[in-house]
Amino acid sequence: MTTAELELTTASTATQRTSVTMKALVYHGPGKCTWEDKPRPVIQDPGDAIVRLTTSTICGTDLHILKGDLPSVTDGRILGHEGIGVVEHVGMGVSEFHIGDKVIISCVTACLKCDFCRKGMYSHCRHGGWILGNTLDGTQAEYVRIPHADGSLYNFPAGGDEEAMVMLSDILPTGFECGVLNGQVKPGDTVAIVGAGPVGLAVLLTAQFYSPAAIFMIDLDEKRLAVAKQFGATALINSADGHAVHKVMELTEGAGVDVAIEGLPATFDICQAMVAAGGRIANVGVHGKPVQLQLEKLWDRNISLTTRLVDTVSTPMLLKVVRSGKLQPSKLVTHRFAINDIMKAYDTFANAAKHGALKVVLTNGAPR
Ligand SMILES: NC(=O)c1ccc[n+]([C@@H]2O[C@H](COP(=O)([O-])OP(=O)(O)OC[C@H]3O[C@@H](n4cnc5c(N)ncnc54)[C@H](O)[C@@H]3O)[C@@H](O)[C@H]2O)c1
Ligand SMILES: [Zn+2]
Ligand SMILES: [Zn+2]
Repeated sequence: MTTAELELTTASTATQRTSVTMKALVYHGPGKCTWEDKPRPVIQDPGDAIVRLTTSTICGTDLHILKGDLPSVTDGRILGHEGIGVVEHVGMGVSEFHIGDKVIISCVTACLKCDFCRKGMYSHCRHGGWILGNTLDGTQAEYVRIPHADGSLYNFPAGGDEEAMVMLSDILPTGFECGVLNGQVKPGDTVAIVGAGPVGLAVLLTAQFYSPAAIFMIDLDEKRLAVAKQFGATALINSADGHAVHKVMELTEGAGVDVAIEGLPATFDICQAMVAAGGRIANVGVHGKPVQLQLEKLWDRNISLTTRLVDTVSTPMLLKVVRSGKLQPSKLVTHRFAINDIMKAYDTFANAAKHGALKVVLTNGAPR
């Protein structure tokens, strides 16, 4: 950076420091988070952008953090890794975004230059990856600092719907990349998705790009299963009675499913028991504890097992599909709150079955 540029950055930082605080959801160890005052973020590196959030949301992963499943998240961290907002400041190194641009924030930060980024594995970017709301302050706040803004933001399309577009921050690429692509869903396949939460439903929506013959949706929550039916599931299975595997075997004449996509330790067991010979188990869920791999049953079944942290490499493609109206992820939104009411929003999302909740949208400003 030249001296002139350095002076400009310093001047811009000084201007930013005139407004000092904002509200944010701060993690204080397992089971504890509060909506409190925090310093507003400022530009720290030339590639940074400061974004004023207009829409944010809560992910199943935030619930894992609150359970203590992710030790990388430490006391004092602002949570959240999904959002839409308006660029308020940019560092000298940002070329693709300008003050006033409306943007979609990706849950994964990508420098676009390191070895992992250059092979499309943004999730393991040496200078980013999944850091927002993890090792860096996140989007459940009035403002957020986005490092490597050029690789980590997307232009919000003119006339786009914020509630649909915020699903591109995380759940659509997660469902598609970790579930559908890793599971290698093909025309004619029989697919089982265990867990009809927002991510499982995103798998359901994007699996249909490939015309599988059957998609079974398995959950404990009848309301979520009913939504899955509307979104194209061909059979619904409530696993509360412990007979999900038996029902899948009946539906597949004893063969099992070509692709089993899961999100939790209990659902990993179901997937291992119902995968067909030659099938794929695609793990999507965040795991905080060991699971048992039943190799004594699977060693001769010719199956494969994949894991993946979402890379978000599919976001530009998914953005086009959402813009075309062929995917309507805004239908996943069941509850809306002003961001100041985020504690109520967490309660609603954490007790989803009681409230009939799927995606809970937080608006910074008057709720719609
Ligand atoms: N790999 C990644 O990059 C990535 C990214 C985002 C989210 N995730 C993870 O994806 C998972 C799903 O996220 P979400 O937001 O949809 O979470 P969620 O908690 O809303 O959904 C989980 C669903 O599983 C169901 N369930 C629980 N136990 C079950 C059982 N025994 N049988 C059948 N269903 C059962 C619940 O009723 C719920 O509907 C979470 O673990 C989240 O952390 C992973
Ligand atoms: Zn997430
Ligand atoms: Zn990188």
